[in-house]
Order: sequence, then structure tokens, then C-alpha cells
Amino acid sequence: MKIHIIMAPIFFTSIFHFCFLSTLVSAISFNQIQLPKNATGPEAMAFELGTSRFFTGIADGRILKYRGPTTGFVEFGFAAPNRSKSLCDGTNTSNPNPVCGRPLGLALHHQTQRLYVCDAFFGFGVLGPDGGLVTQLSTTAEGEPYRFCNAVDVHQPTGNVYFTDASAVYDIRELETAISVQDSTGRLLKYDVKNKQVTVLFRNLSFAAGVAIDEEEKFALVTEFIANRTRKIWLQGQRPYRSEIVNSLPAPDNIKRTRLDNFWLAAARVMQSNLLPVGARINRNGNVLETVNLERWYGNKSVSEVQEYGSKLYIVSRLVNFVGVFKH
Ligand SMILES: *[C@@H]1O[C@H](CO)[C@@H](O)[C@H](O)[C@H]1NC(C)=O
Ligand SMILES: *[C@@H]1O[C@H](CO)[C@@H](O)[C@H](O)[C@H]1NC(C)=O
Ligand SMILES: *[C@@H]1O[C@H](CO)[C@@H](O)[C@H](O)[C@H]1NC(C)=O
Ligand SMILES: *[C@@H]1O[C@H](CO)[C@@H](O)[C@H](O)[C@H]1NC(C)=O
Ligand SMILES: *[C@@H]1O[C@H](CO)[C@@H](O)[C@H](O)[C@H]1NC(C)=O
Ligand SMILES: *[C@@H]1O[C@H](CO)[C@@H](O)[C@H](O)[C@H]1NC(C)=O
Repeated sequence: MKIHIIMAPIFFTSIFHFCFLSTLVSAISFNQIQLPKNATGPEAMAFELGTSRFFTGIADGRILKYRGPTTGFVEFGFAAPNRSKSLCDGTNTSNPNPVCGRPLGLALHHQTQRLYVCDAFFGFGVLGPDGGLVTQLSTTAEGEPYRFCNAVDVHQPTGNVYFTDASAVYDIRELETAISVQDSTGRLLKYDVKNKQVTVLFRNLSFAAGVAIDEEEKFALVTEFIANRTRKIWLQGQRPYRSEIVNSLPAPDNIKRTRLDNFWLAAARVMQSNLLPVGARINRNGNVLETVNLERWYGNKSVSEVQEYGSKLYIVSRLVNFVGVFKH
């Protein structure tokens, strides 16, 4: 009895020490999955269910699939019908070219293995499990062509797809102009998987760079990159839908849902007039629950997506040639 009484506190103390030390030792790890030679500018990722394999679209127009550490990346698809490998392979983010295409948003519907693709030049389309040339699903919505298809999310239970056209006026080569005039012609759109129709859900977004749907398909969180804000758009009732600004982190790009209707936002913070990259986990009301500062690995380069998979964060940026894997 006595022994127990003495031992118990020691036992608990050592557990405490062990946990505390192991937290310190393994506090933060950051690894890079290098893209193939001449590949740069991963913008978004779509993970398979339960395999750690993922897709990413790069600056030269290719969609790559990561098949694990042994095989690495393989070429999977592209959206530009006349894409020339000799002309396009290896071109970087500073040279977007309609001949090459530029896949931005990606979302995989797990049940059907359909990979939805938003290409900056070729709009909204889909790839099957064999990849290849993206099949365009629609080129206009309500008479207006897509100018700058940018982000996509799929509601897994229904298969409905939500995507953004960042601007109805400026394409990816005119981003500087769009910023200087504070463009606000971006749109949120929905592809109804049953009747294959695209509808415009919301207009006048100030560069709609990211979209994520909640688990019950009740609302969308949409980032407005130029206006430095994230908007919650209710998907019910009469259009125009009710909306509210729920977060004001600067330069928000892609947003990805994670467990419990939390969302990871790729954004920035202002430090002595520098914009430094962060990942922020926010809840359905836009409140920041956790911030991960990324300048140690990305300097002042903006990050375009932070996605939680397993116990890790996967981070991509248009300005680097790797996928960052962060654990804490
Ligand atoms: C990479 O780019 C260089 C120059 O642009 C080219 O000579 C080389 O063949 C490319 N390598 C691959 C693997 O595409
Ligand atoms: C691809 O090339 C064909 C033949 O030159 C041309 O008719 C077509 O318009 C091109 N498509 C695109 C998207 O550039
Ligand atoms: C992008 O490509 C252009 C042309 O090949 C080159 O001049 C430039 O240095 C490249 N930029 C980066 C960031 O690699
Ligand atoms: C919203 O967008 C529509 C169509 O793009 C445009 O006609 C209208 O003027 C815009 N409204 C505002 C408040 O900017
Ligand atoms: C967005 O935030 C950046 C960084 O703070 C700032 O330079 C820019 O003017 C802001 N844009 C708008 C439209 O307020
Ligand atoms: C980013 O950092 C580089 C080097 O560290 C610097 O040359 C550049 O001016 C910085 N850019 C911005 C926008 O602060």
C-alpha cells in the first residue's frame, strides 16, 4: 500500500516529463517533397482517401500525381488541348501561357474518383482515374465565359461541385491590373451533378481565390484575395444569398475543410510592411483557432494552400518547387 502511495506521484511525474520532452523534441518537423526536375509552382492539392497519394497542378500546365516516396510524382493530366511538352514543360509561374494551361483548383470526389479541375485558361472540367486531357464540363455560366477559374471543392455526400471564377474581367496574366483596380467581379458557381447545370450563386467577389463547403452543404466559405477577407455565403433561401464577412486575414488564397467543420486558410500576416505566409485554422464562424507561421521555410513567398491530411499539414506555393509537409 505504502509503495503504491509513493510510486503513484513518481509514475505520473515521469509521464508528464516524458510527454513534455517528447513534445519539445518532436515539436515541429518540416519536410519537403521535391517536385520533379523542371516542375514548379504547385497551387492546390487533392488527396485520395486513405492512401496519402495526392494530385497537384503546376505552373507549366501539368497535373501531377504523387504516388509515395518510392515512385514520387508521375504525370497525370493537363487541360490545354494543344499543350506542347517541348514548349511548356518547365515554364514557371511568371509565364502563364494559354497553350500550356494552368491548373489551379483540384478536388477529388472519392466515391466516383472524378478529379474536378479549375484551369485558369480552360475553365471547369473533370478527369477520370486514368487522367489525360481534362474534359471540359462547361465554358460559360449564364452566358458569361469563365475568365479565371481558380478554386474548386466537392461536397462528398452529394457530389455537387462548387468553384470560383476569380474575376469575370481579368485573366491570370492580368493579376497586377486586377489588384490595382481592386477588381470585384469574381463569382461563386455550382455544378449540379444530377442535371449537369452550372449556376452562379454569388457575384461581385473581390477576387474569389478559394472555396470550401461545410459538411452539410449549408454554406460556403469563399476567400476574397484582393479585399483581404473571407466571406461566409449561406446556400439557402432566395438568391442573392445572405452573406457575411467572417475573417480579415490578408491575402487569403485557398481554403480547405478539415475535421469538425474547421478550415485551413492559406493567408498572410503583416510584419513591418512585409506580408509573411501563414496557415490559419478557422472555425465555421471565421474565428482563428490556430496560426502556423511559415516564413521559416517560405520566407516572404505567399502560400496558396494549406491542407490537413492525417496528422500533417501539406503546404503548396506558386513560388516554390516542393510540397511542404509540416507536423507539430
Ligand atoms: C529542364 O529544362 C532545361 C532548360 O529549360 C532543359 O534543357 C531540360 O531538358 C529540362 N529537363 C527536363 C527533365 O525536362
Ligand atoms: C488547337 O489546335 C487546333 C488545330 O490547330 C485549333 O483548331 C484549335 O483552335 C486549337 N485549340 C486551342 C484551345 O488552342
Ligand atoms: C521563370 O522563367 C523565366 C524564363 O525562363 C526566367 O527568366 C525566370 O528567372 C524564372 N523565374 C523563376 C522564379 O524561376
Ligand atoms: C455586381 O455584379 C453585377 C454583374 O457582374 C453588376 O452589374 C453590378 O453592378 C455589381 N454590383 C456592385 C454593387 O458592384
Ligand atoms: C490588403 O492587405 C495588404 C497588406 O496589408 C494591403 O497592402 C492592401 O492594400 C490590402 N488591400 C485592400 C483592398 O485593402
Ligand atoms: C522578399 O525577400 C527577398 C529576399 O529575402 C527580398 O529581396 C524581397 O524584396 C522581399 N519581397 C517583399 C515583397 O518583401
